Amino acid sequence: MKKVIEAKHLNKYFYKPVEFHVLKDIDLSIYSGEFAAIVGPSGSGKSTLLYALSSLDREYEGEVLFNDVELKTLTNQKLAYLRNRSIGFIFQFHYLLADFTALDNVMLPGLKLGELPPEELKEKAMQKLDLLGIADQAMKKVNRLSGGQQQRVSIARALINEPRIIFCDEPTGNLDSKNAMVVFDMLKNLTREYDQTILMVTHDDSFSSKTDRQIQLLDGKIIDRETP
Ligand SMILES: Nc1ncnc2c1ncn2[C@@H]1O[C@H](COP(=O)(O)OP(=O)(O)OP(=O)(O)O)[C@@H](O)[C@H]1O
Ligand SMILES: [Mg+2]
Repeated sequence: MKKVIEAKHLNKYFYKPVEFHVLKDIDLSIYSGEFAAIVGPSGSGKSTLLYALSSLDREYEGEVLFNDVELKTLTNQKLAYLRNRSIGFIFQFHYLLADFTALDNVMLPGLKLGELPPEELKEKAMQKLDLLGIADQAMKKVNRLSGGQQQRVSIARALINEPRIIFCDEPTGNLDSKNAMVVFDMLKNLTREYDQTILMVTHDDSFSSKTDRQIQLLDGKIIDRETP
């Protein structure tokens, strides 16, 4: 199995208002094609760990490797490219541009990457929206969409550049139970049908138990993990 992400002796401290050891000697690998969940109580360090693993935060001790490359060795420019090229993000709040259409929002990371001419990119964005069952909403501004539809747009946006891995922080946390189920099933389907690698933070056992592997955090330590 190919490792996509590997953390070695990852330790992180916050220094304000007082010194606080938030991540404690984390060793963890995420493998290609798996759907893994980080679980644990509020304040246990789930989001902090996800930010470090996903390159959004590099203020820690120890190493995080992406495809065997240590993230701290990358210049800011290389890191920005890596994020856009190879990493997808889905958060509890979608951070879509409210005044733009669903289609525009999905195309944006692709335009920034600039690998495809706009017409091809548009077609690809439509395919992603179709995959998520919202192609008919493509021309609507996102502030006219329901919460579940908005979150599906943010998944389509995360997929547009065909990332190596998608990181999600409570992707269903802001949705009612029916929409949460729809969004979760779509994420799971991506791992099954398209071999997408996904690492998801959730405190909802009914979802985490349906992933391939649960990694349990308590007070910044991994206290239990299933084998990949
Ligand atoms: N910028 C910061 N400065 C100081 N302490 C922080 C900072 N960010 C988070 N913390 C603390 O670090 C700990 C872990 O926070 P984190 O957000 O990772 O928890 P979490 O497991 O994601 O919780 P939740 O389920 O509530 O989202 C908490 O005690 C939090 O108060
Ligand atoms: Mg959190």
